Amino acid sequence: MLFYFSGTGNTKHVVDKLKYPDEKVINIEDIDVKKTGRIEIDDDRLGILAPTYAAGLPTIMKIFLEKADFRFGEKPYIFFITTCDGMPGITGNMVNDILKEKGMKLDASYFINMPENFAPMFNISDKKLNDEINKKADEKIEDIKKIINAKEHGNNIGTVIGKTAAKTMYESFLNSRKTHKFKVNDMCIMCGACERYCPIGAIELHFGVPEWVKKQCLLCMRCLNTCPTNAIEYGNSKGNGQYLHPDLLEEE
Ligand SMILES: Cc1cc2nc3c(=O)[nH]c(=O)nc-3n(C[C@H](O)[C@H](O)[C@H](O)COP(=O)(O)O)c2cc1C
Ligand code: SF4
Ligand code: SF4
Repeated sequence: MLFYFSGTGNTKHVVDKLKYPDEKVINIEDIDVKKTGRIEIDDDRLGILAPTYAAGLPTIMKIFLEKADFRFGEKPYIFFITTCDGMPGITGNMVNDILKEKGMKLDASYFINMPENFAPMFNISDKKLNDEINKKADEKIEDIKKIINAKEHGNNIGTVIGKTAAKTMYESFLNSRKTHKFKVNDMCIMCGACERYCPIGAIELHFGVPEWVKKQCLLCMRCLNTCPTNAIEYGNSKGNGQYLHPDLLEEE
């Protein structure tokens, strides 16, 4: 059984590649994570997959894991995979710490480098580079698939910047996810895609114009990256382009 969150398709791609043909897959944005209760794991494995946000877990995944009451007969093989742009930080530690509180622990954890989606800080528009990164990622996904299918054990997520720095970075991220930094420029064609696709309903169209109706959000960057006219800006994102995993572009 796999549980995942994916803002812009990278992690979803990994899920699609790794899942057993009949495996139950839950996108946690489809459930009210604050009310997550008992979850019966009737499979031989429990997989958790999420992107890295500021060296830590997306808040939606953190809340889901904290609230989930996993129940199983025979102990499943438990693994965590994060997709990131080279710096997975304390994501693995965070998952393990939450599981420990429930008397569980990770058997294996891995990170996969995939294209950056955080336009407020990086230019993310280089398609050739993104294609190359995705090609390498696909090779790593195949390797990890063999390893987890063989149920091998091992923590393979290093912080890269050290635990203390990663923790500080994550704490400051938690306080910085303010939606007042979003702006919509005059390229907006009032299509409503941003409202439709926001995983937490943080955007509403008022007289056709998007407005952010929650003070904080996940900062997943889905709205900015899916806008068909690139009309959404966040902080210094202007000119930094857009990125979505190619699988999502094919779906459109
Ligand atoms: C708010 C935010 C913070 C991020 N922080 C990090 C980070 O600390 N380290 C890193 O390597 N990548 C970071 N990234 C990049 C994403 O982890 C990466 O692009 C990921 O594959 C996106 O997955 P998704 O398409 O499934 O949402 C960040 C992205 C966002 C939106
Ligand atoms: S997705 Fe872009 S164009 Fe469509 S309503 Fe939102 S900001 Fe406007
Ligand atoms: S407002 Fe945009 S960045 Fe924030 S959660 Fe919604 S889609 Fe993600």
